[in-house]
Amino acid sequence: MPRPTHSPRIAALALAVATLFAPCAHAQQAASSTPTATASGLEVRQGPVTLRVVALTDDILRVTLAPGGAFPEDASWAVPHGVRAQRAQVTPTAHGFATRALRVELQDGRLVVSDMAGKIVSADAAPVSLDGHAFTLKKSMPQSEHYFGLGDKTGGMDRRGKTFVDWNTDAFGFTSSDDPIYKSIPFFIGVGGDGGSYGIFLDNTRRSWFDFGHRIDGVLAFGAPDGPIDYYLIHGPSTAEVVRRYTDLTGKAPLAPRWALGYQQSRYSYMTADETRQVAAKLRAEKIPTDVMWLDIDWQDRNRPFTANPKTFPDMPGLVRDLGKQGIKLVTITDLHVAAAPNQGYAPYDSGIKGDQFVKNPDGSTYVAPVWPGDSVFPDFTQASTRDWYGTLFADQVKMGIAGVWNDMNEPAIFGTPTKTMPLTTRHRIASDDFAKRTADHAEIHNVYGMQNTRATYDGLRKLAPNERAFVMTRASYAGGQRYSVTWTGDNSATWDHLKLSIQQLINLGLSGFSYGAADVSGFKGGPSPDLLTRWFEIGAFYPVFRDHSAKGTPRVEPWVDGPQHTAIRRRFVEERYKLMPYLYALAEQNARTGDPILRPVFYDYPDAIASSCDESWTFTLGRALLVSPPPSPESPQPYKTCLPAGGWYDYWTGLPAGRAQQQTAGVFQSATDATGEKHSREDVVDETPRLDHLPVYVRAGTILPRQAVVQSTAETPRGPLQLDVYPGPDCSGDIYLDDGHSMGYERGEFLRQPVRCTVTADGVTLDFGKREGSFKPWWKQVAVTVHGWQGKGTVRSGASASAVESQLNAKARTLRFTLDDDGSAASIAVRRN
Ligand code: NOJ
Repeated sequence: MPRPTHSPRIAALALAVATLFAPCAHAQQAASSTPTATASGLEVRQGPVTLRVVALTDDILRVTLAPGGAFPEDASWAVPHGVRAQRAQVTPTAHGFATRALRVELQDGRLVVSDMAGKIVSADAAPVSLDGHAFTLKKSMPQSEHYFGLGDKTGGMDRRGKTFVDWNTDAFGFTSSDDPIYKSIPFFIGVGGDGGSYGIFLDNTRRSWFDFGHRIDGVLAFGAPDGPIDYYLIHGPSTAEVVRRYTDLTGKAPLAPRWALGYQQSRYSYMTADETRQVAAKLRAEKIPTDVMWLDIDWQDRNRPFTANPKTFPDMPGLVRDLGKQGIKLVTITDLHVAAAPNQGYAPYDSGIKGDQFVKNPDGSTYVAPVWPGDSVFPDFTQASTRDWYGTLFADQVKMGIAGVWNDMNEPAIFGTPTKTMPLTTRHRIASDDFAKRTADHAEIHNVYGMQNTRATYDGLRKLAPNERAFVMTRASYAGGQRYSVTWTGDNSATWDHLKLSIQQLINLGLSGFSYGAADVSGFKGGPSPDLLTRWFEIGAFYPVFRDHSAKGTPRVEPWVDGPQHTAIRRRFVEERYKLMPYLYALAEQNARTGDPILRPVFYDYPDAIASSCDESWTFTLGRALLVSPPPSPESPQPYKTCLPAGGWYDYWTGLPAGRAQQQTAGVFQSATDATGEKHSREDVVDETPRLDHLPVYVRAGTILPRQAVVQSTAETPRGPLQLDVYPGPDCSGDIYLDDGHSMGYERGEFLRQPVRCTVTADGVTLDFGKREGSFKPWWKQVAVTVHGWQGKGTVRSGASASAVESQLNAKARTLRFTLDDDGSAASIAVRRN
C-alpha cells in the first residue's frame, strides 16, 4: 500500500503538534497486545504502532513499524522486489516465532532476537519512540561490541562511541572526522557480542542518523526525521556471513573488467590530448605499469557533459586509439548536471527538455542551478524513462572507445548555496521499480540521487555495448549502489592522517557492500611530501582500485615527480600489484559471487583479531591470504608490532616463515602436527622497524598464491608460466580464476576456474590440482610451483605414474621449485623430502 506523502507544511505542523503535546511518544506507553503469528513471522499492536517482523530467510528478518497502523509503501531502491518477497518457514513460539537459526520474541514490548543457543544477537533497549514523523529505535549495546560499516564515513574504523548522519554531501577537503561526507549507506555490523556478528540495515533514504553510545552510554540509537521505519536484521554469526547476506539483500557488485584492477593515472585535469599523450608516454618510458588514464572535466567543451573540447581534445577516437596501442584505456568524467543551454544545439539539454526529464521546482518549472557548466538542469533519475534517456547519451563515448565513465558531483553538488545541494522542496516524479507513481520532495530522494545516476549510466553502457562489462565510478551513492558502480572517497587531503583514514574508509566500504573502493593516491587537496607520496603508492598498491589523482593548482604527483629513488620504490610496488594480478582478479570474482570484500579488516577471516593486542587501526588483509601491516603512525620511525593471527604466517617479501616459526630450524609447517596449527595456535607478534622502502606483508600458512610475471598493463600477456607459490600450512588451498577480463562471456561459461589444494604430510607436501571448470583457455602452458619453508633435498613426482619432475632447491630461501606442463587436467603432485 502506498505510504501517504505529506506536504512539508503539514509535516511541520504535525511536528509542532507532536512537540507541544507529546514530546516523545513512546510506543511502550500503551500496552502491547499479544503478537499474532503470521505465515512467516509476527505482527503486534503496541499502542499507536503496529510492529511486523517477517523472516525472509532463516537469518534475515525484516522489521517494519506502522505508526497509526498504516504500513509504509513496500518499495525500495536498495532491496529488489524479488528479494523482499522471500519468506522462510517459521515456527510459532510462546512469545514470538523461530526460524532454523533465530528465536524472535517480544519481551515487555521489546524485540529480542537470539540464536538457537539462547545467546542474544540483538535486543531493543526500548520500544520505538516517535516525534511527529521522526522516529528513534534503540538497541542495547553490549560492552564487548564493536561497530563497522556505514560506508566510507570518517572517524576511524570502529564506530563505537560516535554519532553519524546520512546526508550525501560534497565535502571538499573533509577532515578525518567530518561527517556527513559523500555517501549514505545506513548499514552497520555489530561484532564481538555474545550472539556473534549481526548487521542492521535501515532502508530509509532520508537524513537518517546512527548513534553508537555517543549520546547515551550503552544505547545504540538510530532513526530518521521521516520516511519508513523499515529495517533488516541480518544474523551471522560470522562477520563474513553478515556481509554475504547483506549483499544477498542489496546485490553483489558485478565483476569489474580486469583493467580496473591495474594502476590508474588521473589529474584534475590533463588539459589537452597532447598532455595526456605525454603523460602516457612517460608512464611507459619510466616503466610504471599502467592500465588507465582519466580525463577530468576539462576534456569537455565549457564543462558541458557529453561534449569534447574541440580545441584541446579535437580527436577523441584518435586519442583512444593511440593510448590503446600502448595498452592504456581512457575513462572520462560525465557529471550528472546538464548545461542549461537552450537554442545552442546542445542535444542533452534539448532532448531532455523535450522529454520533460529534469527535476522541477515546487511550482512545476524546471529547477536550474549553477555547477561546473554554469546554469544547469538535473535529470530526474527516479523516473525509469529518464534513466533510459540519460543512458542513451553515452552512445558517442562508447563509439569513441572510451572504456568507462566517472560520475562525479552526484550528491548532487550545487554551487553558490550554503547547503551545497538543491532545495529540499524540489520535486522528483518517481516512476520506477515497484514504487507507486508519485511525486517526492528532494528530502526523500537526495540520498539515492547519486545511486540512480550511476544506475542510469551503468544500464546505459550495458545496453550500448551488451557484451562488455560496464565500468562506472561514483562519488555519491546509497545502499545497493554497488550493483552499478565502483566508488572512491572523494576530495581527501595530502596528509598522513588521510593516508591512514583511507584504509579505514575502504575497510568500512567493503563491509558495506562496496568492495571496489579507491582513495585518491597522493591526497586530492594539498601536496604530499616525497615520503608521503611514496608510502601512499605502497599502500595504494593494495587498494581494490588504485588511482593517483590530485586537484588543480596542487603540485604534480605522477610517480616520477620526486626523483629516481622515490620512483624506484613506487615502481616496485606497482609492479608487485601486477605480479599479484591473478590473485587480485580471483578475489574480484569471489566478491561478485559471494560479496566477500577484496580488502578486509583482519577480523573478517580471523575473528580473534577483534581483540588483538596490537594496534590494528589500519592493518588489513587482501583476501584471506595476505595481511598488510603499515606503521600505526605512518609518519613516525617508531618501532611497532604486527600481530599475526593463529595458524602460522610467512613473510611475503622473503618467502620465509615469519614470527616464532622463523626461529625453528626444522621445517616449520612441514609436519602434520604443524599442519593442524598446534604450534601456531596463538597470535604471533612480530617486531617491525619502519623503513620507507618496506611495507610489512605476510602470507597465511596454508595459501597457494597465483602470481605472474610483471606486465606493463593487463592488456599484455604475461611471459612465462603461471606462478604458484605454495605456503604449506593448515587448510591449504588456492583458486585459479581467469576469463577474457572484459566481456560478459564469463556468464556464458567462458571462464577457467580451478581449485588447488595442498596437504602437509609427515615427509612433505601433496599438491592436488582439482578439475578445471569452464571453457576459457589460459595464457600459460606451464605452471611454476615454489614450495616455501622447505628444508632438505626433495623429490617431486607427478600423477598416478609417479613420473619424476626435476626440481631446484634453494637452501637459503628455503624453497623447492619445479615446473609442470599444464594440460588442464586434474593432477596430484607428491613433493617429498629425501
Ligand atoms: C570533484 C571531485 O571530487 C574531484 O575528484 C574532481 O577532480 C573535481 N570534482 C573536478 O571534476
